[in-house]
Amino acid sequence: MNPLRLGVLASGRGSNLQAIMDAIQNGELDASIQVVVSDRADAFALERARQQGIPAFYIDPKSFPTKIDYDLAVAAALEERDVELVVLAGYMRLVSSEFLARFHLKMVNIHPALLPAFPGLEAQRQAWEYGVKFSGCTVHFVDEGMDTGPVIAQAVVPVYDTDTAETLAERILEQEHRLYPATLQLIAEGRVEVVGRRVMVR
Ligand code: GRF
Repeated sequence: MNPLRLGVLASGRGSNLQAIMDAIQNGELDASIQVVVSDRADAFALERARQQGIPAFYIDPKSFPTKIDYDLAVAAALEERDVELVVLAGYMRLVSSEFLARFHLKMVNIHPALLPAFPGLEAQRQAWEYGVKFSGCTVHFVDEGMDTGPVIAQAVVPVYDTDTAETLAERILEQEHRLYPATLQLIAEGRVEVVGRRVMVR
């Protein structure tokens, strides 16, 4: 089988992108990153991609009249390179339904909480403030909601009395870096099947 062609969208530091690139290099993930796109010029993710020789583009949302126009430009950058799976890695924008229609069940995200608990921003802090004893991260397909799509995989971490929101976030991030490449590998192997909201790994 040919390596799964990924397109990564990222807005920030890109540590998940790095984990994915590392897994590809180590032979743990049978995929290739065709392009990285960011909505922020200063995203370190762009820098990380360029260091590996991966085409990386900043597309400025402000240079498009509407959100849909922006999303169509991003979609074109992915489609031009025959991207088979869109990987959101710290992408801080909700995608429009026009974008979703193009990548239905071909787009995944990682969220730093055990969904459906604590969707949205600062999920690690939300979990810490709520006082849960376990949290973690979730890889899910993207649908029109905020962090609401079918769950593919989750990893759990304990929350200790001595934790701060920051130490909890670090513990979760370690798991993100393991879970995301491993889940992408399951998809690359064609083992992930979606039945309604439920995702089965064969
Ligand atoms: C991660 O915590 C991820 O779960 C969330 O955004 C953060 C991105 O971090 N969606 P990075 O840019 O991959 O380092």
